[in-house]
Amino acid sequence: MKRQLGGALDASRVGEQVLLQGWVASQRNHGGVMFINLRDRGGVVQIVVHPEEHPEVAEALMAARLEWVIEVRGEVARRAPEAVNPQMATGEIEVVATFGAILSPAEPVPVAVDGIVDANEDTRLRYRYLELRRANLQQNLRLRHRVALEIRRFCDEQGFAEIETPILTRSTPEGARDYLVPSRVHPEAFYALPQSPQLFKQLLMVAGFERYVQIARCFRDEDLRADRQPEFTQVDLEMSFIDEEDVYALIEGLFARIFPLAGIEIEVPFRRMPWAEAMARYGSDKPDLRFGLEIQDITNKVAKSGFRAFQQTAAEGGTVRGFTVPGAAGASRREVDGWAELARRHGAAGALTFRRREGELQFQVKNVLSDAELESLAEALSLGEGDLALIVAGSPKVAANALGALRSELAETYGLIPEGTHAFLWVTDFPLLEWDENDERFYSMNHPFTAPKEEHADRLSTAPGSVQARAYDIVMDGFELGGGSIRIHDRALQQEAFRALGISDEEARERFGFLLDALTYGAPPHGGIALGLDRIVMLMSGAPSLRDVIAFPKTTSASCLMTDAPSRVDASQLRELGIENLKREI
Ligand code: AMO
Repeated sequence: MKRQLGGALDASRVGEQVLLQGWVASQRNHGGVMFINLRDRGGVVQIVVHPEEHPEVAEALMAARLEWVIEVRGEVARRAPEAVNPQMATGEIEVVATFGAILSPAEPVPVAVDGIVDANEDTRLRYRYLELRRANLQQNLRLRHRVALEIRRFCDEQGFAEIETPILTRSTPEGARDYLVPSRVHPEAFYALPQSPQLFKQLLMVAGFERYVQIARCFRDEDLRADRQPEFTQVDLEMSFIDEEDVYALIEGLFARIFPLAGIEIEVPFRRMPWAEAMARYGSDKPDLRFGLEIQDITNKVAKSGFRAFQQTAAEGGTVRGFTVPGAAGASRREVDGWAELARRHGAAGALTFRRREGELQFQVKNVLSDAELESLAEALSLGEGDLALIVAGSPKVAANALGALRSELAETYGLIPEGTHAFLWVTDFPLLEWDENDERFYSMNHPFTAPKEEHADRLSTAPGSVQARAYDIVMDGFELGGGSIRIHDRALQQEAFRALGISDEEARERFGFLLDALTYGAPPHGGIALGLDRIVMLMSGAPSLRDVIAFPKTTSASCLMTDAPSRVDASQLRELGIENLKREI
């Protein structure tokens, strides 16, 4: 007899003889009758054993405990009406066992597979293969599979070829630290794991493929968060002879195909917003547009006020900004302190409250603003009765960052994010470069291969900070799902872009000579984007962390608790790699 999936049986199969193999999800005895819930990849089905009729089956399965692997043969039967379980997909039926055997016993499991999560996260990650038996993780990873499959189908229909690029390669400057791999053959030389396939996909354009896609593993040694893993997967795309509009249309078409796999219907085209507007109105380059709490600039209302802190900020070229939370005037001292602390963590001096309660306007710092100033502030912030506004003063960057963080925090606290809604957005018109105060130099906002807007290109050497890029990000619900750009395909311009980044011609030659050369052999105009597959599946499944959509994720300290990676290696391995004494020699 061929094995069937117990979890996929239904009432149409009543009367059939079946052979099932799977895990014991639960077992109980009821008035001399034994019930076992059997789990397989199809789901869960109830097995019934009648000891009087089949004592040998009862005896065979008696020892089975949670998570033992068993085999059962029997007949699919309709349950008595009072025994139907509407909570279970197979709740109308059960399998009456005529044969039973144990295929593999199990120790008592340290991580519950069904029901509430009972173990701490470290234990769950150590026994990840047990946690992965849980229904939600099974669903997430199967969804991930279907999403990847649909992406490949869609891209195939659109003329893309999937091409693999090297994992052992040279450093790609995506802004994180590299993972390095020592070479045995070349002592003291290292490969870098790719932070992205950026340069290879551009070279594939020079090679004439025109449309490249890869579901590509990327590696970045950076500080980890719920939406960041040290190794993650990109849907990496590149196209020749296109502009921004082609990329937007492609991704909107792709999203319209994959999001419905999780029951999310989307409306295209997506909204677009220039980067400067996103920063000013929402304090973020990945604004969550599912709720309001829009930031207002009130600098000119308070620049001449009696409050020194505001006066000074304005005089120093800073800004004073704030947003209003409807109905929040009753916020407690503790909450307010928490918000000020959050603002401080984002570089601001703090956050000040402004409320209208019982008709009275109350600014946190008493007696520094006149009644007229309070009124004009309240008007600018649309502060109604019972509302609270949070105000931050600082440089435009600091004010934006602090208010952006507060905006998300308060939306969460006051339940302002409507269930089941999603907001997609293209963020456009990024600056090409970002000034770093500490290093006193410019860094790429995106990466050094991003094309400047044509009309700004001549400012690269004279006013680099004012040059905008032909770059775009796709944002959903406050998460950056992907980013890309139109690239530089002209060697001279690429060299100028390197110079603006403080990379000398010599260094550029050494690190990126292969790209510079390729640009001289008929490089087509090209551009592309990379989407974070893990993040997409996380948002599609509603999971709170990337860990719920990656089979074997790493902890926030980048270790794998199951395999204990990273681990020390033998001295002989270091010797063989020629790096045993490297530190001393350098
Ligand atoms: P970027 O660096 O913006 O662009 O990366 C693209 C997308 O990859 C996802 N992502 C991550 N996901 C999980 N963990 C991480 N540590 C992580 N880092 C990034 C994000 C992000 O939007 N080569 C360019 C793309 C291009 O220009 O075409 C690049 O890699 O969802």
